[in-house]
Amino acid sequence: MAMAYLVSLFMVMEMIAISRFGFGVDGLRMDYYMMSCPLAEFIVKNTVNRALQDDPTLAAALVRMHFHDCFIEGCDGSVLIDSTKDNKAEKDSPGNLSLRGYEVIDDAKEQLEEQCPDIVSCADIVAMAARDAVFWAGGPVYDIPKGRRDGRRSKIEDTINLPFPSFNTSQLIQAFGRRGFSAQEMVALSGAHTLGVARCSSFKSRLSNADPTLDSDFAKILSQTCSAGDNAVQRFDFTPNTFDNYYFNTLIRRNGLLFSDQQLYATPRTRAIVNGYAMNQAMFFFDFQQAMVKMGTLDVKEGPNGEVRENCRKIN
Ligand code: HEM
Repeated sequence: MAMAYLVSLFMVMEMIAISRFGFGVDGLRMDYYMMSCPLAEFIVKNTVNRALQDDPTLAAALVRMHFHDCFIEGCDGSVLIDSTKDNKAEKDSPGNLSLRGYEVIDDAKEQLEEQCPDIVSCADIVAMAARDAVFWAGGPVYDIPKGRRDGRRSKIEDTINLPFPSFNTSQLIQAFGRRGFSAQEMVALSGAHTLGVARCSSFKSRLSNADPTLDSDFAKILSQTCSAGDNAVQRFDFTPNTFDNYYFNTLIRRNGLLFSDQQLYATPRTRAIVNGYAMNQAMFFFDFQQAMVKMGTLDVKEGPNGEVRENCRKIN
């Protein structure tokens, strides 16, 4: 009974979200490819599902890729561009070196170019792949508007605007606030850390600086992980390939992996939001999907400001 109520509540909330974004955030549309490439969504979903069946850890990679794409130069596929001898691209910056999943995007793009050449942008493929990865991992199902065009700029220096794992709560609120996100939306988006892992290099400074927000038993586990070197990985929560709300429960137990994760529980304003999401997964799922749709519209390029790349790794 309670389950049926939750499911129907979720469906109503879903419909509200879809109708809010049904048309034109920045001219994007839900049915953008309906006439020009009707199989676009299907091809991306199939490619993602196949890739995740082989390697479930790619769900995390695809969600992170969309975030890193949108935060730098807007959601324009700029993160996919390879460096050339004249240009060091975003993907070669320290914050992007552990991004993965480029081959999934290439695979989808190749099939789409065969079906409908020059129609589906790489930026849209990244956005759809992230959405499909969330669902595959057990997270919320949601529709996204499409019609992003691909950018022609990808510069390593722009990635300075990615948030650092050393950020405290006010720096996190500020970094997301500059992009138009509230503190609540920032916490909801951080819930993407329910998926995946971080390398020791991203959290080891917490061990040498005796971070007081870190649980002492958990610190021992992290030290053990780091004894295998800077590239040794630690999962964010017990279920790194499942999209759930355990991440928020780990923060309550002071087992947040990054300093920036644990910061969300360190100040009263964001602690209340963490507690809410830890208690109510449906609320987290709803806020997360809304914030992802919003993130997917960041500084989207349209018309002559962008292009549809033929190869996602190269400007046309
Ligand atoms: C709030 C500020 C954020 C900071 C400081 C941050 C930082 C990081 C860091 C340092 C890592 C580990 C990288 C490594 O060691 O290789 C990571 C992983 C990850 N991040 Fe974030 N992140 C933030 C927000 C987000 C958002 C908004 C999303 C998506 C919506 C996201 C999705 C992910 C995912 C899924 C992973 C795991 C990747 C994998 O396993 O391959 N992060 N993040």
